[in-house]
Amino acid sequence: MNVLITGGAGYIGSHTCVELLNCGYDAVVMDNYSNSSPSVIGKIATITGKKFPAYECDMLDLDGFEKIFRENKIDAVIHFAGLKAVGESVEKPLEYYHNNLTGTINLLRLMKKYGVHRFVQSSSATVYGTHNTAPFTEDMPLSTTNPYGATKEFIERILTDICHADKNWDIALLRYFNPIGAHPSGLIGENPNGIPNNLMPYIMKIAVGELPELHVFGNDYPTPDGTGVRDYIHVCDLAAGHVKALEKIDSFHGARAFNLGTGKGSSVLEVVHAFERVSGVKIPYKIEPRRAGDIAICYADCTRAEKELGWKAKYTLDDMCRDNWNFIRKNH
Ligand SMILES: NC(=O)c1ccc[n+]([C@@H]2O[C@H](COP(=O)([O-])OP(=O)(O)OC[C@H]3O[C@@H](n4cnc5c(N)ncnc54)[C@H](O)[C@@H]3O)[C@@H](O)[C@H]2O)c1
Repeated sequence: MNVLITGGAGYIGSHTCVELLNCGYDAVVMDNYSNSSPSVIGKIATITGKKFPAYECDMLDLDGFEKIFRENKIDAVIHFAGLKAVGESVEKPLEYYHNNLTGTINLLRLMKKYGVHRFVQSSSATVYGTHNTAPFTEDMPLSTTNPYGATKEFIERILTDICHADKNWDIALLRYFNPIGAHPSGLIGENPNGIPNNLMPYIMKIAVGELPELHVFGNDYPTPDGTGVRDYIHVCDLAAGHVKALEKIDSFHGARAFNLGTGKGSSVLEVVHAFERVSGVKIPYKIEPRRAGDIAICYADCTRAEKELGWKAKYTLDDMCRDNWNFIRKNH
């Protein structure tokens, strides 16, 4: 099966590309490198020992995008390309709606034109909003509180509507929880520029001496140590979930949502202590007031993915910290 991977040079896309190639799939990568580097393509080839076509292309450039469909016989698409920073989406909503929604609509129009009906969407736990109680299950009502989250919710809605209108489509809506970690080779991983928004990249910046201390927002939540709880998942487990979804996709006959998490929550301080344990590096932190919009506890019920996809996360929090640190040390 020949799989088009949009955003394939990005953090999750590159790991999924490795997993697909290792499992015998063919891959075609497209990315505009707005949040990644072309050098990642060579690293994927080094890890897998396989060559594959890679296009520098923007989803918003319909003609350039169509060239990929003309030049390759695509059997399925995994759609990672998009802008993903919540805070930035509040400041630049038009940019987010245009890139994420128009880009996805361009892709879907091309898929329709070229008769490609297998689609895996990078969705997010953010679609569960702030009113549901963990563990989150796929049939809970969706709601979002920022433009980034809204693009994820709208895309799920567009994909569901497409499936209602045309029974040929088979679509997996993969709702990721909190991906961290890196490929054990240390060749690919996540290393954002500037001040990161997420916990693990922030811890990394402190560990390499670029930031002085961690700000922990709230220690009075109803959790064992008072700090917020999230479901961290190793990016390699996440990548494997995409391959499992592709294996089963022909049986979906419509759009089907799946949570991809570990089913286990870890608090901010548990992550800090796990990182300190595996790296031997101390992470100083300061408790700050709660941050508006943050929920206390977020973790997945992964029963559906286990039963229907035969997928289960296997890496531990220590594995995630170790592989993340290995990547940062090799690439800092
Ligand atoms: N990382 C997370 O915490 C997380 C959680 C839930 C969902 N997601 C979703 O998973 C997907 C992948 O996330 P990631 O963490 O790998 O992000 P990433 O930024 O590393 O990867 C996204 C890739 O898309 C590319 N891209 C963006 N706009 C494009 C465009 N118009 N045309 C072509 N390429 C474009 C970027 O250059 C980047 O390489 C995103 O859709 C994101 O919203 C991520």
